[in-house]
Amino acid sequence: MARIAIVGPGAVGGVIAAWLEKTGRHEIILCARRALGELQVETPHGALIARPTVLTAPEQATPVDWVLVATKAYDSAGAATWLKGLAANGAPVAILQNGVEHRERFASYLPSAQLVPVMVDCPAERVTPTSIRQRGTAKMVVQDDVRGREFVALFAGTPVEISLTADLKSAVWRKLCVNAAGVISGLVLQPAGVMRDEQLGELARQLVRECIAVGRAEGAVLDDSLVETVLQGYRSAPADSVNSLHADRAAGRMTEIDARNGVIVRFGRKHGIATPCNQMALALIEAMTRAASSK
Ligand SMILES: NC(=O)c1ccc[n+]([C@@H]2O[C@H](COP(=O)([O-])OP(=O)(O)OC[C@H]3O[C@@H](n4cnc5c(N)ncnc54)[C@H](OP(=O)(O)O)[C@@H]3O)[C@@H](O)[C@H]2O)c1
Repeated sequence: MARIAIVGPGAVGGVIAAWLEKTGRHEIILCARRALGELQVETPHGALIARPTVLTAPEQATPVDWVLVATKAYDSAGAATWLKGLAANGAPVAILQNGVEHRERFASYLPSAQLVPVMVDCPAERVTPTSIRQRGTAKMVVQDDVRGREFVALFAGTPVEISLTADLKSAVWRKLCVNAAGVISGLVLQPAGVMRDEQLGELARQLVRECIAVGRAEGAVLDDSLVETVLQGYRSAPADSVNSLHADRAAGRMTEIDARNGVIVRFGRKHGIATPCNQMALALIEAMTRAASSK
């Protein structure tokens, strides 16, 4: 039995909480910004109902065996306020977020050895604060080390698929290539089918080429074939698939633009690599977000 705290009871946090609770082996504690009742999670494997303990203030947190952070990247500072109590005894903290800066976001709060970056691919959305739809198999990738193997063991007996890799850096940069191109849907507010357009397809290729160049400078192993693989992935997805940046913009919420495209621009600058397409996408999304919030 492990005591597992999940910070951020959103789409990913809710799905993960429900599957971990279903094992019957763990005590699940949800760290939330508001009171929540039971969670209803519709999954490809049937409906789950989770009744975790819910905490609503970091002062209520006491030490646990594992912490899983599943907030948006831009909410990392808020998520970190829970760690003083939850990770006081040295519990490992898994970061289930997009992007390539999992460690950097939490480096000022905890020693690096406590942090477990996770590449998360869990197609899910919140329908209401307590009802979540999981649209496909939840998959994650972690580094093949002692902590990574312990993380995998937490999920034994669930349909959550977790792979171990000797090279997590390349895995997260590959995912970033996919997310970098997804900004096009966020800009034009049209789902994945829009990538079938020739000009937008060419723009997607360029966004990915820049991501590959910067990722390689950071030490990731990224094949040139990723350019077409990413584009074909979007073109063969259901035409009405909506990525989270698009969904967030359409709903007037903050976006993870910095974690998805901003990081390519920032790291590009560091290495002297030009990233004009990502830079333009970043500037446009930021300008539109500012305009929307000033209304
Ligand atoms: N959803 C997907 O399909 C998917 C797939 C792959 C990767 N990801 C990545 O996974 C991460 C999580 O995404 P998501 O879709 O699960 O996001 P989400 O549905 O927006 O959930 C985030 C949750 O974090 C909570 N939160 C924010 N600040 C908090 C704080 N200080 N204390 C406690 N809770 C806090 C939010 O609370 P409120 O309820 O108060 O807003 C919300 O419940 C992101 O990096 C995302 O890019 C998501």
